[in-house]
Amino acid sequence: MNLVLMGLPGAGKGTQAQKIVEDFSIPHISTGDIFRAAMKNETPMGIEAKKYIDKGELVPDEVTNGIVKERLAQDDTKDGFMLDGFPRNLNQADALDKILAESNRHLDAVINIHVEPDVLVERLSGRFICRNCGATYHKIYNAPKVAGTCDVCGHHDFYQRDDDKPETVKNRLDVNIKLNTPLVDYYQKQGILHEINGEQDIDKVYEDIKKVLTNLN
Ligand code: AP5
Ligand code: ZN
Repeated sequence: MNLVLMGLPGAGKGTQAQKIVEDFSIPHISTGDIFRAAMKNETPMGIEAKKYIDKGELVPDEVTNGIVKERLAQDDTKDGFMLDGFPRNLNQADALDKILAESNRHLDAVINIHVEPDVLVERLSGRFICRNCGATYHKIYNAPKVAGTCDVCGHHDFYQRDDDKPETVKNRLDVNIKLNTPLVDYYQKQGILHEINGEQDIDKVYEDIKKVLTNLN
């Protein structure tokens, strides 16, 4: 199953990806996670990407497309993959089609998690992440079962993302809102788009996604 998970910043892509991976055992490829790892390790690509991410802008397509191309050449993607946060514009969508065509693959489904922008500001400002395993929480909507302890790995150290600061959040949303509609149209025309209502409980959103994915198999 070759899958793309789309949605505006804070729509719940990472949260749902964690659940999809457990049930469907496909590699989770998040361009945001790849950039954050590179920034943490201060690689040349990470230093370059940070300039854009800190402002809420997209990292240039030639960098991002190259990373995805390299990742999709790895063997563990041959039986399926889930892209999270890529593509984000038509140029990236076109690059992805070409990368897949070169190895006789195609996308089976694009899941668009739809949430209205005003809800997203609150989601992003309340988000915190386990420093050990990367599990994502929300102070109101998705708090750990035992306060201060990660449900997944039991560690006690959490952080907030730098780009969840209010000034950056506003620009991230503005940038992505503009790009989202043409991309939705692009995949709708191909007949592979599945719209999911992301303004429901996390488990209900997952139930809807799981229905779509189960019907693909
Ligand atoms: P990336 O890391 O992909 O960030 P994003 O797209 O802004 O999305 P988020 O990770 O912020 O949100 P999410 O949808 O995963 O939501 P989450 O599940 O955490 O990218 C970061 C940056 O990297 C970009 O800004 C860009 O600069 C660069 N980049 C990445 N990809 C790129 C590309 N393709 N091209 C160019 N540049 C790129 O949920 C959010 C919060 O809400 C959490 O606290 C969660 O607990 C809570 N929540 C989730 N679901 C629900 C629900 N149903 N109800 C209530 N609360 C919920
Ligand atoms: Zn953890």
